[in-house]
Amino acid sequence: MNILVLVSGTGTNLQALIDAEKAGRLGPGRIAGVISDRPAYALERAKAAGIPGLVEKAGSGLSDRILHDAREMDAGFIILAGFLSILEGEIISAYGGRIVNLHPSLLPKFGGAGMYGERVHRAVLDAGEKESGCTVHLVDAGTDTGPILLQRKVPVLPTDTADSLAERIHTEEHIAIVEAAALMAERLNSK
Ligand code: GAR
Repeated sequence: MNILVLVSGTGTNLQALIDAEKAGRLGPGRIAGVISDRPAYALERAKAAGIPGLVEKAGSGLSDRILHDAREMDAGFIILAGFLSILEGEIISAYGGRIVNLHPSLLPKFGGAGMYGERVHRAVLDAGEKESGCTVHLVDAGTDTGPILLQRKVPVLPTDTADSLAERIHTEEHIAIVEAAALMAERLNSK
């Protein structure tokens, strides 16, 4: 069960997936490729693990280029692990129910266009939330709107900054992304 991982940044969640695969915790899942929409440290992690990685520049035609790459590598499903472009067009139906996104809040709260990374944590703090967390969900034609696979919660502390909250959530993301990847690999493998 080939997995394509899409990234844009440092790739700690990609690393969690790589480590999980090595430890035999992705079931039938195997990371077959990593694509970034910009030069990113995540690609170094792929390289170090011997996984093919490439840059498909953000912008016009990105989703179709990724669809083409996904088919080339025979990807059974796609994981957005800190991927900051929005997928659109044919890939959404071609990979319907087979694209998962990781988001650093308890969706449906603090999702949607422009809500990513530190902006999410700032908005959570500004709103005076008592808890936050992360969500893994299936991607549909909206932004952060598809069916939720799993969530993990953390408390928001009175002393929190966006950075400290992000760090607490990151730890939970690394667990959530691996659980979701194993779940998808098992599910799709038995179809
Ligand atoms: C993660 O916190 C992920 O939830 C977030 O980007 C970070 C990537 O971290 N994704 C989004 O904000 C998507 N809307 P990483 O590069 O260390 O895995």
